[in-house]
Amino acid sequence: MGARPKWWQRRTERPGRHPLFARVYARLAPAMDRAGLSGRRARLLAGLTGRVVEIGSGSGLNFAHYPAEVAGVLAVEPEPSLLRYAVRNAARAPVPVALVDGSAEHVPGADGAFDAAVVSLVLCSVPDQRAALAELHRVIRPGGQLRFLEHVRADSRGLRGLQRVLDTTVWPALAGGCHLSRDTLAGIEAAGFAVNRLERFRFPDGPLPSPTSPHILGTATRTGGPR
Ligand SMILES: C[S@@+](CC[C@H](N)C(=O)[O-])C[C@H]1O[C@@H](n2cnc3c(N)ncnc32)[C@H](O)[C@@H]1O
Repeated sequence: MGARPKWWQRRTERPGRHPLFARVYARLAPAMDRAGLSGRRARLLAGLTGRVVEIGSGSGLNFAHYPAEVAGVLAVEPEPSLLRYAVRNAARAPVPVALVDGSAEHVPGADGAFDAAVVSLVLCSVPDQRAALAELHRVIRPGGQLRFLEHVRADSRGLRGLQRVLDTTVWPALAGGCHLSRDTLAGIEAAGFAVNRLERFRFPDGPLPSPTSPHILGTATRTGGPR
């Protein structure tokens, strides 16, 4: 195949760039927070200290929930429109937040540079989850923490089947590269993290489970290396 034009590379090959979905998400996300996600964000970040890197920080809805003991947050986000929203949320945050255009696959930071990393609703969307987790493992210091809040593969066979069908048809194109059927908890453990706190919950928690409803929230400690 011949060389692709520059606009193609800019718009489609840079991991995490989904401009249309980003605009829709920026408008939807505050309503999701009001519907209950905001409290989960607070639980995600409670007790953090030191230097933190947040990957795929989107419009910055986590920023308000960082505890005062956090010395600073480096927020990494590939989507320019979300970065623009994040500027406002960073200015109102209770801790210093620096925003940077980047991706999970290339986190700007030396090995072990951070006491903790945070991902919320991101590991479903990164093109290569294993590479992203390896990069997080690299930048978190030994003994440091990975905090995660992600929607994941369903436990029930029926819902899992529906998730797979959607993943191989329309879902990633409609939802900014998102995948419904990823076993993200297994991915975190395989990347060299020991999970020490885990909550499973459904969001939204309606009468019928939806393909996006199984969620995990937790803390994992960075151990020696991948399994
Ligand atoms: C559903 S949004 C979640 C945003 C935010 N973390 C939150 O909790 O509201 C998914 C985010 O992942 C980002 N993303 C997608 N692929 C990425 C990648 N390869 N590296 C870093 N971020 C990525 C998107 O740009 C977007 O901000």
